[in-house]
Amino acid sequence: MFEAVLAARAAEVEAALRRILDDRTRSGEIARPERLMAAMRHGALNGGKRLRPFLAIEAAALLAPNLDRQIVLCVAAALECVHCYSLIHDDLPPMDDDDLRRGQPTVHRAFDEATAILAGDALLTLAFDLLAGRSTDTLMPQNRLDLVAGLARAAGLGGMVGGQMLDIQAEERRPEEAGIIRLQAMKTGALIRFACEAGAILAAAPPADRERLAEFGSAIGLAFQLADDLLDVTASPERMGKATGKDAAAGKATLVALHGADWARSQLHGLVNQAHSLLEPYGARAALLKAAASFVAVRQN
Ligand code: IPE
Ligand code: IPE
Ligand code: MG
Ligand code: MG
Ligand code: MG
Repeated sequence: MFEAVLAARAAEVEAALRRILDDRTRSGEIARPERLMAAMRHGALNGGKRLRPFLAIEAAALLAPNLDRQIVLCVAAALECVHCYSLIHDDLPPMDDDDLRRGQPTVHRAFDEATAILAGDALLTLAFDLLAGRSTDTLMPQNRLDLVAGLARAAGLGGMVGGQMLDIQAEERRPEEAGIIRLQAMKTGALIRFACEAGAILAAAPPADRERLAEFGSAIGLAFQLADDLLDVTASPERMGKATGKDAAAGKATLVALHGADWARSQLHGLVNQAHSLLEPYGARAALLKAAASFVAVRQN
Protein backbone atom coordinates (compact mmCIF):
# COMPACT_ATOMS: atom_id res chain seq x y z
CA MET A 1 0.00 0.00 0.00
CA PHE A 2 2.63 2.55 1.06
CA GLU A 3 4.91 1.53 -1.81
CA ALA A 4 2.08 2.15 -4.31
CA VAL A 5 1.55 5.70 -3.02
CA LEU A 6 5.31 6.34 -3.04
CA ALA A 7 5.46 5.11 -6.66
CA ALA A 8 2.53 7.34 -7.65
CA ARG A 9 4.21 10.41 -6.12
CA ALA A 10 7.51 9.41 -7.77
CA ALA A 11 5.76 9.36 -11.17
CA GLU A 12 4.44 12.89 -10.59
CA VAL A 13 7.89 14.11 -9.58
CA GLU A 14 9.48 12.35 -12.55
CA ALA A 15 7.06 14.12 -14.93
CA ALA A 16 7.80 17.48 -13.30
CA LEU A 17 11.58 16.90 -13.57
CA ARG A 18 11.20 15.86 -17.20
CA ARG A 19 9.47 19.16 -17.99
CA ILE A 20 12.04 21.14 -16.03
CA LEU A 21 14.86 19.37 -17.90
CA ASP A 22 13.46 19.84 -21.41
CA ASP A 23 15.48 21.51 -24.15
CA ARG A 24 13.65 24.82 -24.17
CA THR A 25 15.86 27.70 -22.99
CA ARG A 26 14.20 29.77 -20.27
CA SER A 27 14.21 33.53 -19.88
CA GLY A 28 17.69 34.68 -18.89
CA GLU A 29 19.39 31.54 -20.25
CA ILE A 30 21.54 31.79 -23.39
CA ALA A 31 21.55 28.10 -24.34
CA ARG A 32 21.10 24.64 -22.79
CA PRO A 33 24.13 22.63 -23.94
CA GLU A 34 23.03 19.27 -25.26
CA ARG A 35 25.69 17.16 -23.53
CA LEU A 36 25.10 18.84 -20.18
CA MET A 37 21.35 18.31 -20.51
CA ALA A 38 21.91 14.64 -21.36
CA ALA A 39 24.12 14.16 -18.28
CA MET A 40 21.64 15.98 -16.03
CA ARG A 41 18.79 13.82 -17.32
CA HIS A 42 20.91 10.71 -16.81
CA GLY A 43 21.47 11.69 -13.19
CA ALA A 44 17.99 12.96 -12.39
CA LEU A 45 15.46 10.94 -14.42
CA ASN A 46 14.55 7.25 -14.65
CA GLY A 47 14.84 6.07 -11.11
CA GLY A 48 15.18 6.85 -7.49
CA LYS A 49 12.62 6.41 -4.77
CA ARG A 50 11.97 10.18 -4.69
CA LEU A 51 11.66 9.98 -0.93
CA ARG A 52 12.58 13.61 -0.24
CA PRO A 53 9.92 14.93 -2.64
CA PHE A 54 7.44 12.49 -1.14
CA LEU A 55 8.09 13.84 2.36
CA ALA A 56 7.65 17.44 1.24
CA ILE A 57 4.44 16.64 -0.67
CA GLU A 58 2.88 14.69 2.20
CA ALA A 59 3.99 17.09 4.94
CA ALA A 60 2.36 19.89 2.92
CA ALA A 61 -0.79 17.81 2.38
CA LEU A 62 -1.01 17.03 6.09
CA LEU A 63 -0.96 20.68 7.12
CA ALA A 64 -2.81 22.26 4.17
CA PRO A 65 -4.78 19.78 2.05
CA ASN A 66 -5.75 22.13 -0.80
CA LEU A 67 -2.45 23.57 -1.96
CA ASP A 68 -1.71 24.23 -5.62
CA ARG A 69 -0.13 20.99 -6.82
CA GLN A 70 2.21 22.67 -9.31
CA ILE A 71 3.85 24.77 -6.59
CA VAL A 72 4.27 21.77 -4.32
CA LEU A 73 5.78 19.75 -7.19
CA CYS A 74 8.13 22.59 -8.04
CA VAL A 75 9.53 22.60 -4.49
CA ALA A 76 9.61 18.80 -4.44
CA ALA A 77 11.58 18.80 -7.71
CA ALA A 78 14.04 21.33 -6.27
CA LEU A 79 14.76 18.98 -3.36
CA GLU A 80 15.29 16.09 -5.76
CA CYS A 81 17.66 18.18 -7.92
CA VAL A 82 19.86 18.76 -4.86
CA HIS A 83 19.70 15.07 -3.95
CA CYS A 84 20.61 13.94 -7.49
CA TYR A 85 23.49 16.42 -7.63
CA SER A 86 24.76 15.02 -4.33
CA LEU A 87 24.67 11.47 -5.69
CA ILE A 88 26.50 12.42 -8.90
CA HIS A 89 29.31 14.07 -6.91
CA ASP A 90 29.28 11.37 -4.19
CA ASP A 91 29.98 8.75 -6.89
CA LEU A 92 32.97 10.58 -8.44
CA PRO A 93 36.38 8.85 -8.26
CA PRO A 94 37.87 11.14 -5.57
CA MET A 95 34.73 10.65 -3.48
CA ASP A 96 33.22 7.12 -3.28
CA ASP A 97 34.37 6.08 -6.75
CA ASP A 98 31.25 4.19 -7.80
CA ASP A 99 30.32 2.82 -11.23
CA LEU A 100 26.68 1.96 -10.65
CA ARG A 101 23.76 4.12 -9.47
CA ARG A 102 20.06 3.30 -9.70
CA GLY A 103 20.99 0.29 -11.79
CA GLN A 104 22.77 2.36 -14.44
CA PRO A 105 26.33 3.53 -14.98
CA THR A 106 27.10 6.56 -12.81
CA VAL A 107 27.15 9.90 -14.64
CA HIS A 108 30.96 10.10 -14.83
CA ARG A 109 30.98 6.56 -16.27
CA ALA A 110 28.28 7.25 -18.85
CA PHE A 111 29.85 10.62 -19.76
CA ASP A 112 33.13 11.81 -18.20
CA GLU A 113 34.24 13.34 -14.92
CA ALA A 114 34.16 16.96 -16.03
CA THR A 115 30.65 16.53 -17.42
CA ALA A 116 29.52 14.83 -14.19
CA ILE A 117 30.90 17.68 -12.07
CA LEU A 118 29.11 20.22 -14.26
CA ALA A 119 25.86 18.25 -14.30
CA GLY A 120 25.93 18.24 -10.48
CA ASP A 121 26.69 21.97 -10.38
CA ALA A 122 23.85 22.70 -12.78
CA LEU A 123 21.33 20.59 -10.82
CA LEU A 124 22.29 22.37 -7.61
CA THR A 125 21.83 25.84 -9.07
CA LEU A 126 18.65 24.74 -10.86
CA ALA A 127 17.15 23.89 -7.46
CA PHE A 128 17.40 27.52 -6.37
CA ASP A 129 16.12 28.69 -9.75
CA LEU A 130 13.02 26.53 -9.12
CA LEU A 131 12.45 27.86 -5.60
CA ALA A 132 12.88 31.52 -6.45
CA GLY A 133 11.47 31.49 -9.99
CA ARG A 134 8.04 32.20 -11.44
CA SER A 135 6.42 28.94 -10.35
CA THR A 136 6.43 29.89 -6.66
CA ASP A 137 5.50 33.55 -7.00
CA THR A 138 2.10 33.13 -5.39
CA LEU A 139 3.68 32.02 -2.09
CA MET A 140 4.07 34.61 0.64
CA PRO A 141 7.47 36.31 0.20
CA GLN A 142 8.73 35.26 3.66
CA ASN A 143 7.83 31.62 3.01
CA ARG A 144 9.56 31.73 -0.34
CA LEU A 145 12.69 33.14 1.29
CA ASP A 146 12.51 30.50 4.02
CA LEU A 147 12.48 27.80 1.34
CA VAL A 148 15.51 29.28 -0.41
CA ALA A 149 17.52 29.91 2.76
CA GLY A 150 16.45 26.62 4.33
CA LEU A 151 17.55 24.59 1.32
CA ALA A 152 20.87 26.45 1.19
CA ARG A 153 21.52 25.73 4.86
CA ALA A 154 20.51 22.07 4.57
CA ALA A 155 22.59 21.44 1.45
CA GLY A 156 25.68 23.47 2.24
CA LEU A 157 28.55 23.97 4.61
CA GLY A 158 26.74 23.16 7.83
CA GLY A 159 24.59 20.46 6.23
CA MET A 160 25.13 17.98 3.43
CA VAL A 161 28.40 19.28 2.00
CA GLY A 162 29.87 19.68 5.48
CA GLY A 163 28.74 16.15 6.29
CA GLN A 164 30.42 14.78 3.17
CA MET A 165 33.65 16.46 4.29
CA LEU A 166 33.40 14.88 7.76
CA ASP A 167 32.52 11.53 6.13
CA ILE A 168 35.79 11.60 4.18
CA GLN A 169 37.84 12.67 7.20
CA ALA A 170 36.18 10.00 9.34
CA GLU A 171 37.95 7.29 7.33
CA GLU A 172 41.16 8.39 9.10
CA ARG A 173 39.85 9.96 12.30
CA ARG A 174 37.57 7.09 13.38
CA PRO A 175 35.01 9.12 15.33
CA GLU A 176 32.98 7.67 18.19
CA GLU A 177 29.21 7.27 18.13
CA ALA A 178 28.37 10.94 18.69
CA GLY A 179 30.71 12.01 15.88
CA ILE A 180 29.19 9.51 13.44
CA ILE A 181 25.65 10.57 14.34
CA ARG A 182 26.58 14.20 13.77
CA LEU A 183 28.18 13.58 10.38
CA GLN A 184 25.19 11.49 9.27
CA ALA A 185 22.73 14.13 10.49
CA MET A 186 24.62 16.49 8.20
CA LYS A 187 25.34 14.43 5.07
CA THR A 188 21.92 12.73 4.86
CA GLY A 189 19.74 14.01 7.69
CA ALA A 190 19.81 17.70 6.85
CA LEU A 191 18.14 17.37 3.45
CA ILE A 192 15.53 14.88 4.70
CA ARG A 193 14.81 17.14 7.68
CA PHE A 194 14.42 20.11 5.38
CA ALA A 195 12.16 18.16 2.98
CA CYS A 196 9.68 17.70 5.83
CA GLU A 197 10.06 21.30 6.98
CA ALA A 198 9.61 22.53 3.39
CA GLY A 199 6.18 20.86 3.33
CA ALA A 200 5.26 22.80 6.46
CA ILE A 201 6.57 26.05 4.93
CA LEU A 202 4.52 25.42 1.78
CA ALA A 203 1.49 24.97 4.00
CA ALA A 204 2.29 28.29 5.74
CA ALA A 205 2.09 26.33 8.98
CA PRO A 206 2.72 27.94 12.38
CA PRO A 207 6.24 27.61 13.87
CA ALA A 208 5.27 24.75 16.21
CA ASP A 209 4.16 22.56 13.28
CA ARG A 210 7.23 23.50 11.29
CA GLU A 211 9.47 22.46 14.15
CA ARG A 212 7.56 19.23 14.72
CA LEU A 213 7.79 18.25 11.06
CA ALA A 214 11.50 19.15 11.01
CA GLU A 215 12.11 16.98 14.09
CA PHE A 216 10.23 14.15 12.40
CA GLY A 217 12.54 14.63 9.41
CA SER A 218 15.63 14.50 11.62
CA ALA A 219 14.55 11.19 13.13
CA ILE A 220 13.86 9.54 9.79
CA GLY A 221 16.97 11.14 8.30
CA LEU A 222 19.16 9.34 10.82
CA ALA A 223 17.14 6.17 10.36
CA PHE A 224 17.56 6.46 6.60
CA GLN A 225 21.37 6.52 6.71
CA LEU A 226 21.43 3.76 9.30
CA ALA A 227 19.33 1.62 6.94
CA ASP A 228 21.62 2.55 4.03
CA ASP A 229 24.65 1.44 6.03
CA LEU A 230 22.90 -1.82 6.99
CA LEU A 231 21.91 -2.47 3.39
CA ASP A 232 25.51 -1.89 2.33
CA VAL A 233 26.35 -4.93 4.49
CA THR A 234 23.30 -7.12 3.83
CA ALA A 235 21.92 -6.39 0.34
CA SER A 236 23.06 -7.31 -3.16
CA PRO A 237 24.12 -4.77 -5.80
CA GLU A 238 21.33 -6.08 -8.06
CA ARG A 239 18.69 -5.23 -5.47
CA MET A 240 20.22 -1.88 -4.55
CA GLY A 241 21.15 -0.74 -8.06
CA LYS A 242 24.48 0.36 -6.60
CA ALA A 243 27.59 -1.36 -5.29
CA THR A 244 27.37 -2.86 -1.79
CA GLY A 245 29.99 -4.05 0.69
CA LYS A 246 31.92 -0.88 0.01
CA ASP A 247 31.71 0.90 3.37
CA ALA A 248 33.79 -1.69 5.22
CA ALA A 249 36.25 -1.93 2.31
CA ALA A 250 36.69 1.84 2.27
CA GLY A 251 36.93 2.02 6.07
CA LYS A 252 33.82 4.22 6.31
CA ALA A 253 32.86 5.28 9.81
CA THR A 254 29.32 3.96 10.26
CA LEU A 255 27.32 2.90 13.32
CA VAL A 256 27.06 -0.56 11.76
CA ALA A 257 30.87 -0.78 11.69
CA LEU A 258 31.12 0.55 15.25
CA HIS A 259 28.36 -1.43 17.01
CA GLY A 260 27.30 -4.19 14.59
CA ALA A 261 24.13 -4.92 12.64
CA ASP A 262 21.93 -6.06 15.57
CA TRP A 263 22.56 -2.88 17.51
CA ALA A 264 21.87 -0.86 14.36
CA ARG A 265 18.55 -2.63 13.82
CA SER A 266 17.36 -1.90 17.34
CA GLN A 267 18.48 1.70 17.01
CA LEU A 268 16.54 1.93 13.76
CA HIS A 269 13.45 0.64 15.52
CA GLY A 270 13.82 3.33 18.22
CA LEU A 271 14.17 6.11 15.65
CA VAL A 272 11.04 4.99 13.81
CA ASN A 273 9.08 4.97 17.11
CA GLN A 274 10.37 8.43 17.88
CA ALA A 275 9.28 9.63 14.43
CA HIS A 276 5.82 8.09 14.93
CA SER A 277 5.30 9.71 18.31
CA LEU A 278 6.20 13.14 16.92
CA LEU A 279 3.21 12.79 14.58
CA GLU A 280 0.76 11.66 17.28
CA PRO A 281 -0.94 15.09 17.52
CA TYR A 282 -2.11 14.76 13.91
CA GLY A 283 -3.88 11.45 14.49
CA ALA A 284 -4.96 9.37 11.50
CA ARG A 285 -4.25 12.20 9.06
CA ALA A 286 -0.53 11.48 9.50
CA ALA A 287 -0.87 7.80 8.54
CA LEU A 288 1.03 8.20 5.28
CA LEU A 289 3.97 10.02 6.85
CA LYS A 290 4.08 7.43 9.63
CA ALA A 291 4.15 4.73 6.98
CA ALA A 292 7.06 6.57 5.36
CA ALA A 293 8.99 6.37 8.65
CA SER A 294 8.33 2.63 8.86
CA PHE A 295 9.29 2.19 5.21
CA VAL A 296 12.69 3.81 5.82
CA ALA A 297 13.54 1.04 8.26
CA VAL A 298 12.29 -1.92 6.23
CA ARG A 299 13.15 -0.75 2.74
CA GLN A 300 14.93 -3.27 0.57
CA ASN A 301 16.72 -0.83 -1.73
C1 IPE B 1 21.01 7.32 -1.34
O1 IPE B 1 19.76 7.96 -1.25
C2 IPE B 1 22.04 8.17 -0.69
C3 IPE B 1 21.90 8.36 0.74
C4 IPE B 1 21.66 9.51 1.27
C5 IPE B 1 22.03 7.23 1.65
P1 IPE B 1 18.43 7.22 -1.73
O2 IPE B 1 18.41 5.82 -1.20
O3 IPE B 1 17.28 8.09 -1.43
O4 IPE B 1 18.66 7.14 -3.30
P2 IPE B 1 17.61 7.10 -4.50
O5 IPE B 1 17.27 8.52 -4.77
O6 IPE B 1 16.41 6.31 -4.08
O7 IPE B 1 18.36 6.47 -5.62
C1 IPE C 1 25.68 9.59 0.58
O1 IPE C 1 25.98 8.61 1.49
C2 IPE C 1 25.22 10.83 1.18
C3 IPE C 1 25.13 11.90 0.16
C4 IPE C 1 25.16 13.13 0.52
C5 IPE C 1 25.02 11.60 -1.26
P1 IPE C 1 26.53 7.26 0.83
O2 IPE C 1 27.82 7.48 0.14
O3 IPE C 1 26.43 6.17 1.85
O4 IPE C 1 25.39 6.99 -0.28
P2 IPE C 1 25.43 5.79 -1.33
O5 IPE C 1 25.53 4.53 -0.52
O6 IPE C 1 26.59 6.04 -2.23
O7 IPE C 1 24.10 5.90 -2.02
MG1 MG D 1 29.44 8.78 0.32
MG1 MG E 1 28.38 6.77 -1.84
MG1 MG F 1 25.83 4.14 1.41
